[in-house]
Amino acid sequence: MPVIVIVGAQWGDEGKGKVVDHLAQSVDVVLRFGGGANAGHTLVVNGKPVTLRLLPSGILYPKKLNIVGPYVVCDPEVLVRELRISKEAGSAVLLDNDAMVVLPLFKQIDEGRENERGCHAIGTTKNGIGPCYESHKARREFRLRDLESEQAIRRALDRGNLYADLAGEVRFGGDEPMDFDEIVAWAKKFSGLKEYLGDTREMVEELLEKPGCNILAEGAQGIMLDEDQGSRPDNTASNSTQAGFSKSFGIYPPVLKHTAGIAKAYVTRVGGGVMPSEMDNEWSRLMQDRGKEFGSVTGRPRRVGALDLPLLRFACRRGGLNSLIITKLDLLSGLHSIPVCVGYLYKSTGLRVPTFATLSSNETLANIKPQFIEVDSWSQPIDKCRCYDDLPAAAQAYINLIENSVGKPVIGVGVGPERDAIIWRNTHPLF
Ligand code: GDP
Ligand code: IMO
Ligand code: MG
Repeated sequence: MPVIVIVGAQWGDEGKGKVVDHLAQSVDVVLRFGGGANAGHTLVVNGKPVTLRLLPSGILYPKKLNIVGPYVVCDPEVLVRELRISKEAGSAVLLDNDAMVVLPLFKQIDEGRENERGCHAIGTTKNGIGPCYESHKARREFRLRDLESEQAIRRALDRGNLYADLAGEVRFGGDEPMDFDEIVAWAKKFSGLKEYLGDTREMVEELLEKPGCNILAEGAQGIMLDEDQGSRPDNTASNSTQAGFSKSFGIYPPVLKHTAGIAKAYVTRVGGGVMPSEMDNEWSRLMQDRGKEFGSVTGRPRRVGALDLPLLRFACRRGGLNSLIITKLDLLSGLHSIPVCVGYLYKSTGLRVPTFATLSSNETLANIKPQFIEVDSWSQPIDKCRCYDDLPAAAQAYINLIENSVGKPVIGVGVGPERDAIIWRNTHPLF
């Protein structure tokens, strides 16, 4: 039975949570496959916003099964908070035995490294994400299953000299590491998580055997933040593309039926790094205000730019996308006009940057000059529209421009933050 993967097609915060919460109505299982509490996915149901950082955006539905896969790095305090939300809603949660635990030392290291980088700081969320994934690469990660007993906690902290090495790095960064016994005491507080643990890969395989069972896989971050395809070094430390799902669950096409990329009708980025279509003018300030563009995890203002078509084309190729869902189109209503980035020139030569140029190279991104056009906006609000044909001609022309430039179908359009504020074009091909 099919798996549908939802990923961010820009620099994160595209509205993945809202789309997954909407689609979750039509599936049996929702799973989260990557990242950690660096993510913040906001769902709005009956006017009430809920921001989820670790559990999948299907937890607000009673009885729905929500799975956290083995490649997710878990802050247990966040897990406990979100499990409470799930319990209230009556949904079910299964956490992978092997999902990693973000120890407090990882956060200290993340912070120390950012301070050390000074003006070259990545602008991480300081949630310990990079250092935690490093422990996985070094094959000495601390897993959720290690929270089971004091003996298991102590064994995991000693594995491959984990505690001693981490404490050394914290000290090197000028901070005092949490004491070994303090960490043991901290970890013991989460022994109750064991009732949620299991082998999620086996569970997913079993579910795929069941006739009619649909699985929705929710990515975190966005393709431009992917550890391999994103613009290094200002990216995150896991795969936010479809590959992140395949890598952790061992499921590939054709069982993996469709990957849809979520893209905002403009772009935002939080943290450092090059953003070619970034603007700092009246329009960008208006969009920041209208779109409430402040990070849901750190509260930092998100940088705002024009919709970047070459970047989206690149993301579709490198992210293995079959289609796009464009969110926040409602926020472009009633503008004088809308800026769109349609190409890049090399700053030094004035020559056009070919579409296959590797935009994951920071050098390329830093040496290009964006070319903008202005397209028509539309006067009437569209947040009540639920049918594609009811959208004003200029809004449809905006969607056509995206499809024609990127070469992928736009299957859905977001017209508001609420769960139902989405327009599917014809019947969406996902389920
Ligand atoms: P995610 O990390 O990709 O899930 O995105 P975030 O939740 O961090 O940020 C997206 C924000 O936009 C949230 O506050 C959503 O409620 C909101 N949002 C999502 N889709 C739409 C839309 O189509 N229109 C409007 N106005 N807001 C939206
Ligand atoms: P969602 O799932 C936006 C950014 C950080 C920083 C870089 C590395 O809500 O879309 P990290 O803490 O991962 O080491 O930081 O990645 N970043 C995000 N930006 N949305 C996210 O998640 C992000 N997760 C990480 O701002 O630039
Ligand atoms: Mg977010």
